[in-house]
Amino acid sequence: MARSTAMTGSSGGGGWSRRRTVRLGVARGAVVAALGAAGASAAQGQIPDTFTNLQHYPPDISREALVGEMRRISLSLGVRCQFCHVGSPDGVSFEGVDFASDDDPHKVTARWMLAMVDELNARVTDELPDRGGSPVEMSCKTCHRGLARPRLLSQELRLTLDLEGADGLVEAYARARNRLESGSYDFGEWEINFLAEDLEREGRPDDAIAVLEVNRAQHPESTPILASLGRLYEAGGSVDRAISIYDRFLELQPDNEAVAARLEELRGRRRP
Ligand code: HEC
Ligand code: HEC
Repeated sequence: MARSTAMTGSSGGGGWSRRRTVRLGVARGAVVAALGAAGASAAQGQIPDTFTNLQHYPPDISREALVGEMRRISLSLGVRCQFCHVGSPDGVSFEGVDFASDDDPHKVTARWMLAMVDELNARVTDELPDRGGSPVEMSCKTCHRGLARPRLLSQELRLTLDLEGADGLVEAYARARNRLESGSYDFGEWEINFLAEDLEREGRPDDAIAVLEVNRAQHPESTPILASLGRLYEAGGSVDRAISIYDRFLELQPDNEAVAARLEELRGRRRP
């Protein structure tokens, strides 16, 4: 019980400004529990006992509590401590890490984000009607979900299209799928169907087809994906492909008269 109360109080970055030091005592139990459960990192010995550059957390925060917050932030972003703290020779070792230094821009951004999360939580508390007895506290993870740059799957695929072209899509999707357990991405079909709609509107039908084919591999029985693909192939003059897509559509939804009629017409068009 003490644990769950504490978990609410310490949410991986949010809610620990100097203004809210009252939470410190409560959160501590959870931090210690978390450290115990997950195994204190090998770095423990090299983390200082006193802190010299805290601008967000209260100056009298305990070492356990601060390290607990830091571990949650790291997990929320899917990074190591050295992502924000300079001085490690190889990005893994703690030898030589200068935790107080602000030389890494990620640390500066993270401090800015800590303040942002406090502001967001304060605004929601003050302004929402009917918030009821179960307020939701935002934290780093609310947005980041294990990603340093919290992009949606559609945004990752668009970035891949722009940097590598359609050839990179299958691998980018597979990379994202490898993170299934972390809940970083939404693999529902509409996440990508909407991307395809955007690309089509932007005059990029081939890219729209490419993302829909990747989406279709994941959702082979989706009729909305087949309908869009059929239409795009038709518009691009790939009649045979459109026909096989509509055939598949009718296997899944035999009563669809509009698609049946479309198929009829395309077959007629193919016969000279
Ligand atoms: C995403 C960036 C980020 C990551 C990852 C991160 N930190 Fe921090 N760390 C910060 C920020 C920002 C501060 C300063 C907080 C403040 O101003 O109150 C800080 C402060 C500290 C301090 C206090 C330094 C001082 O003397 O002022 C220690 C110690 C520390 N972090 C340890 C860790 C450890 C250990 C990890 C890994 C478990 C870690 N940090 C991961 C951003 C990060
Ligand atoms: C409301 C959503 C949101 C929340 C909550 C949030 N972030 Fe972010 N964060 C973002 C976005 C969006 C970006 C990318 C900004 C950009 O385009 O450069 C980002 C970027 C970052 C980066 C830079 C990563 C990089 O690779 O450049 C760090 C570090 C970071 N956030 C830390 C945090 C920490 C720590 C917390 C919790 C205290 C937090 N964020 C909470 C939305 C959020």
